[in-house]
Amino acid sequence: MSPLKVAVVGASGKVGCLLINQLNSNSSFSTPLAIVRTQDQVDHFKNKVRVDASLTDIENASVSEIADAINGYDAVVFSAGAGGKGIGRIFTVDLDGCIKVVEACEKAGVKRFIVVSALKAEERDFWCNIKGLREYYIAKRSADREVRDSKLDYTILQPGSLELNKGTGLLQPLNRLEEKASVNYSINREDVASFIVQSLLHPDATVKKTISLVNGDEPIETFIQGL
Ligand SMILES: NC(=O)c1ccc[n+]([C@@H]2O[C@H](COP(=O)([O-])OP(=O)(O)OC[C@H]3O[C@@H](n4cnc5c(N)ncnc54)[C@H](OP(=O)(O)O)[C@@H]3O)[C@@H](O)[C@H]2O)c1
Repeated sequence: MSPLKVAVVGASGKVGCLLINQLNSNSSFSTPLAIVRTQDQVDHFKNKVRVDASLTDIENASVSEIADAINGYDAVVFSAGAGGKGIGRIFTVDLDGCIKVVEACEKAGVKRFIVVSALKAEERDFWCNIKGLREYYIAKRSADREVRDSKLDYTILQPGSLELNKGTGLLQPLNRLEEKASVNYSINREDVASFIVQSLLHPDATVKKTISLVNGDEPIETFIQGL
């Protein structure tokens, strides 16, 4: 199989950077494309990280412009987010930004799509009383639904609370997720990036699935085999 060409939306984010590095050092993948929103970020990825980069602000670009940026790629990963920078931007980045990228994938003929959503987004009773996160979850849940309604070979990843510790390579089996409630269902961003890489390499196990990601005691390879 020829190396997969992957474009990452939100490449300058914390998960995005880890993912770009993993893709760039894995021979199963071609040099990845970092989709970012400032010229400084483009220069950083091209000159320091030595990957391809596209200046495409998903809030302000048209679907056609986003389609042009991802044209020719085998897969798109969406890991962008407003990151607490205002309720309005939750809707223009996490919700409509994601929907526009889905539409762009359909327009450009990029079938494979992976989105980083949030744990239990489908369960309104879980999040409706979490102070400050209600709008965020409304956006994530609605974006996930648009992804499921698309024609894409999607995978919706729903990590718990994201940490910046070193990856463990271990995930919590889905039938024992609730054991992790006391640690806020946390997961290291490096493990999220590793799981995205494995999802790209194992579409048979992950396409058309919504998968909760929390650190636990099962190796990622075993976890994927059990999906
Ligand atoms: N924090 C948590 O505990 C948690 C839990 C579950 C899921 N998540 C989700 O996981 C995902 C990844 O998290 P993270 O910590 O890596 O997020 P992050 O560090 O905040 O990165 C988000 C990235 O999105 C980019 N972005 C924002 N607006 C954009 C635009 N208009 N066009 C292009 N890119 C844009 C940002 O660019 P700039 O750097 O230029 O701002 C940033 O690089 C997010 O969707 C987040 O909502 C987070």
